[in-house]
Amino acid sequence: MVCTVLIEGKEIRVNSGANLLWAALDNELYIPNLCGIRGIEKPPASCRLCFVEVDEKSEPVTACTEKVRDGMIVRLESPKIIRLRKTAFDLLLSDHNLDCAHCVKNKKCELQNIAQRMHLKLNDKRYKKIGKNLPVDSSHPNFVFDPNKCVLCGKCVWACRREGIGVLDFAYRGIQTIISTFAGMPLAETNCTACLECVKVCPVAALYMK
Ligand code: SF4
Ligand code: SF4
Ligand code: FES
Repeated sequence: MVCTVLIEGKEIRVNSGANLLWAALDNELYIPNLCGIRGIEKPPASCRLCFVEVDEKSEPVTACTEKVRDGMIVRLESPKIIRLRKTAFDLLLSDHNLDCAHCVKNKKCELQNIAQRMHLKLNDKRYKKIGKNLPVDSSHPNFVFDPNKCVLCGKCVWACRREGIGVLDFAYRGIQTIISTFAGMPLAETNCTACLECVKVCPVAALYMK
């Protein structure tokens, strides 16, 4: 059933039960997002950038986990939403090895795009910088994995599983969380088939071609 939704004053018609993030993006209503994956059943909702306000809910919700309903009213730009997104963005950057000028993803990076669209600085000094200083894995003949640039969006894990390989996964918990191979094995020694789907989905310079 097609339903009508009001997003930031714009009326859109979309299938009832569709995902709010993609419904908005498909209708040129921008919601920042890093970990959103179109069509998956249980979105990880880890980046916390896609907060929106929905009429009948008292607290902001993540658009990537919200389904649209007929008559739904959604706000994208309230002061509370902007504050929440900025905090999430600054936290993401707090342990990011920021060096755009020398980065392979410079000018093609989703963090830069989000910063520009949200009028935010990449090098905000609000939170103390925590250097990860993790070893870069360049063992693979085709691509490099630099965990110091990883924003833990999980897209590579999902892409690797979708290909039926499952070489990449989350390891450890909390602030220690990283993306890793089994037991931290070098990529060249894993079952990686070099499909390069992980590189294609990585929004930053954590996975990049040699
Ligand atoms: S990944 Fe993006 S934000 Fe990070 S250093 Fe590279 S270009 Fe800059
Ligand atoms: S390596 Fe890239 S795709 Fe994988 S979690 Fe990190 S930022 Fe996301
Ligand atoms: S896209 Fe919704 S939390 Fe990341």
